[in-house]
Amino acid sequence: MSTETSFDAQHLRRIGVMTCGGDAPGMNTCIRAVVRTALNYQIEVYGIRRAFAGLVAGDMERLGPRDVGGILQRGGTILQTARLPEFREERLQKLALRRLHEHEIDALIVIGGNGSLRGAFMLQQRGFPVIGIPATIDNDVWGTNMAIGVDTAINTILEAIDRLRDTASSHQRALLVETMGRKCGYLALMAGITGGAEVIHIPEVSITLEEIARRVEEAYIRGKTHAILVISEGAEHRTTDIARYLEEQETGFEVRITILGHVQRGGRPSHFDRLLATRMGVAAVEALRRGTCGVMTALRGREITLVPLEEVISHERKANLEYYEIAQVLAR
Ligand code: F6P
Repeated sequence: MSTETSFDAQHLRRIGVMTCGGDAPGMNTCIRAVVRTALNYQIEVYGIRRAFAGLVAGDMERLGPRDVGGILQRGGTILQTARLPEFREERLQKLALRRLHEHEIDALIVIGGNGSLRGAFMLQQRGFPVIGIPATIDNDVWGTNMAIGVDTAINTILEAIDRLRDTASSHQRALLVETMGRKCGYLALMAGITGGAEVIHIPEVSITLEEIARRVEEAYIRGKTHAILVISEGAEHRTTDIARYLEEQETGFEVRITILGHVQRGGRPSHFDRLLATRMGVAAVEALRRGTCGVMTALRGREITLVPLEEVISHERKANLEYYEIAQVLAR
């Protein structure tokens, strides 16, 4: 087993790149940055389609500069993506290594979230040089302030909240807005605080249905014409259960639900995501050229740094609860 973070990059001639897990706005921008940076150093790039599933099937082709033209502003991923939980099986990892060797690929760049970075680490442990780039709207990857796609997704949620408030106010309603995020409340918390939510419900904070109803009722008593509740999909109470409870409690507001769903994952990447994806794509290729591997690119402060993949996958990233307190005060 090897978790080496360096390799002999003297003969680095060809790298593979793939996008994995849920797609995130900015993945295309990142592919473009990887391809054009590598080509600038006469390193060939193979685009692997459909993530680890495509890798074990040997589904890949060489990418030239024109193949990544006109994609930096497009959501989704031109390489497509897939989830393959079975990749933890030794058989599939060995098959993946065989495909990489068949195509004479010297190193791999994996763009994706926690599951993808775990898959990347498995290949690294088998001695294949890998670099991870965090890309997931959930922002649940440890070690980086931001993953690619988060900023765009929050802006999409904010636009929805702003629109929903218009109609909620007109009808004196409580509007429950459910966001994605799995077990991390980052999206809901940040959209909630910047969208002026009356209640934010995230997995990191336990709260009773009674307390939620009390906050909504207080908003009504204070003369608010609406109540916006931002609920993370992985939180303690399900959105439908909260809605039912609020209806029973007669808080003063009529109740409606909006589940934002996959709309949060699509769309043109924001300026922030384009820049982050570009910087991380460039940093990944530069690291490989220096012979560094087994790491993930990370945003710390304003700098792009490298964090060992082993550290990344052995920690859990949670939402910053300082913001939760602030949001509660500002909701009054
Ligand atoms: O990890 C990104 C994410 O969008 C989560 O927020 C969500 O729970 C999940 O993916 C949905 O996955 P799928 O698109 O496979 O249904």
